[in-house]
Amino acid sequence: MQDSADQGAAPWVPPTPTIAGLRAAAPACRGCELWAPATQVVFSRGPSDASIVLVGEQPGDHEDLEGEPFVGPAGRLLSDALRAAGIDEDAVYLTNAVKHFRFEERGKRRMHKTPTVTHLRACGPWLDAELAVVRPRVVVALGASAARAVLGRSVGVTRERGRILDGGYLVTTHPSAVVRLRGRDGFESAFDALVNDLGLAAP
Ligand code: URA
Ligand code: SF4
Repeated sequence: MQDSADQGAAPWVPPTPTIAGLRAAAPACRGCELWAPATQVVFSRGPSDASIVLVGEQPGDHEDLEGEPFVGPAGRLLSDALRAAGIDEDAVYLTNAVKHFRFEERGKRRMHKTPTVTHLRACGPWLDAELAVVRPRVVVALGASAARAVLGRSVGVTRERGRILDGGYLVTTHPSAVVRLRGRDGFESAFDALVNDLGLAAP
């Protein structure tokens, strides 16, 4: 994340972190305003010596309630795609660019709201610390927010997906974007494209 400008989460991030230490410290983060309406911080799951790190955008409704990343519909689709790509999900480290759920209340429903660049920057020190600990062979950014957080610049997913970029970065679509196509033309090809991209990261 080269474009972090402000302090954001930095004062809350332990200076010589382990993943367990980061996870323990994250609930105290006040690096941006998103902690207040959220249920809890959603940190990560998976082994800290993983060779593949997958970075999503932010937790969704299910993740906010359960405290675990990728446990809702997008997570289920991601599991299917990883399996189809020959990647063992349990061997992958899964995290998000932003650790608190950003939403808008509409009646009883909490609607996902895309995090801004300010949120991505504020939360960047957590992701930077995770990547410094795990030191994976490849970092897969799921969607434009994750790609921006990881690469520190704006990224056109369609233009930059489908190849390993310098530094071991791979950009692909967010599984939520594929979930939204379910039952419509284009679902199969969007799913296959995600599987193909993930296959580039396979061991
Ligand atoms: N979408 C994400 O980007 N991350 C999650 O953890 C769940 C849905
Ligand atoms: Fe801290 Fe990130 Fe949560 Fe903002 S979203 S409060 S920076 S953990």
